[in-house]
Amino acid sequence: MDVITASAPGRVNLIGEHTDYNGGFVLPTPIPQRTAVELRRRKDGLVRVWSREIGAWAEYALGDERRRGGWLDYVMGCTQALRLTGHALEGFELKIASDVPLGSGLSSSASLELAVLRAIRQAFGLAIDDTQLALLGQRAENELVGAPVGAMDQLCASLGQAGSALFIDTRTFATRLVPLPDDLDLLVIDSGLKHDHATGGYRTRRAECEEAARQLGVPQLRDLGVDDLARVARLPDPLARRARHVITEDDRVLAAVAALEARDLRTLGELFVASHASMRDDFEVSVPAIDTLVAIACADPDVYGARLTGGGFGGAIVAIAKAGTAAAAARRITDQYCDQSWNQNRDQTRGTPRVLVAQEAACSRS
Ligand code: GLA
Repeated sequence: MDVITASAPGRVNLIGEHTDYNGGFVLPTPIPQRTAVELRRRKDGLVRVWSREIGAWAEYALGDERRRGGWLDYVMGCTQALRLTGHALEGFELKIASDVPLGSGLSSSASLELAVLRAIRQAFGLAIDDTQLALLGQRAENELVGAPVGAMDQLCASLGQAGSALFIDTRTFATRLVPLPDDLDLLVIDSGLKHDHATGGYRTRRAECEEAARQLGVPQLRDLGVDDLARVARLPDPLARRARHVITEDDRVLAAVAALEARDLRTLGELFVASHASMRDDFEVSVPAIDTLVAIACADPDVYGARLTGGGFGGAIVAIAKAGTAAAAARRITDQYCDQSWNQNRDQTRGTPRVLVAQEAACSRS
């Protein structure tokens, strides 16, 4: 029987954090790490799945998708979302292999969902466009996995292209590719501290944003601009700071697109720094170890700016650096971070950093 292969990348968000569930703007770009799947159709209604990373098979019957609290939920979420939108499926066997790190804020889950959905679309000849496919991935995660995420990660996994950032208006799902200048190096460094979006902080932040919008009398925080900040400041704490983050972050995304188009990397670096400060102080999704990593990166002579990327509470940082310097800068940053942890009583709360992307402009996008 025919084997269908499909894959989808992880992503790093350049800027625009916690704006996607507020109808705002985001600017992610795909990373080289991907999730790949192989699918073989079956004649019955069974789905059997092998995960290379877990080293195990798991199975379920179509129509019997329910939360089990493990990796299979992402696959079950996809078939459930397809069935609930009226797509006829039959069983299949699926093999998954991924080199997107888990829990690092680089969208391992969206890359898995989109790889699975692409393979199913092809195997069953489903007429679904790439934007709709991304929204099915989001639905899988919202409904079956139970993580109240926005659509940024899935849209980037579905529509992103290497060498470009993907500007997304998450209110309309309109997208535009913004080429990355060839004199910009991209660095992604995992802090080693894992996050989890199905629980805790992410859910609370989302609820706080919705409450702030309600108290301000707008459908979503996207409906406000920097001119409204005086009014926003009259909200009770912490709602005022949560809303201020989202409103100023939307503004920074637009400024970042303009800076990329003008190849103004200094301004882009300053926007990264301001975004991090806002996530740390107003949105409170950073942790001290990440603040340290960002500070070390920002102090590096070849780095224009750095910030926490993704949902936060751990995960990775993204930095932009002068062309041709990424590998050496990444090494300096991780070395300094490790030296500091060692000197501060082998601080266990810090995790072991890992360089995930040190993409030097000239070789990666030539
Ligand atoms: C996670 C979610 C996204 C987005 C970011 C924060 O990655 O999956 O939808 O909300 O956090 O910007």
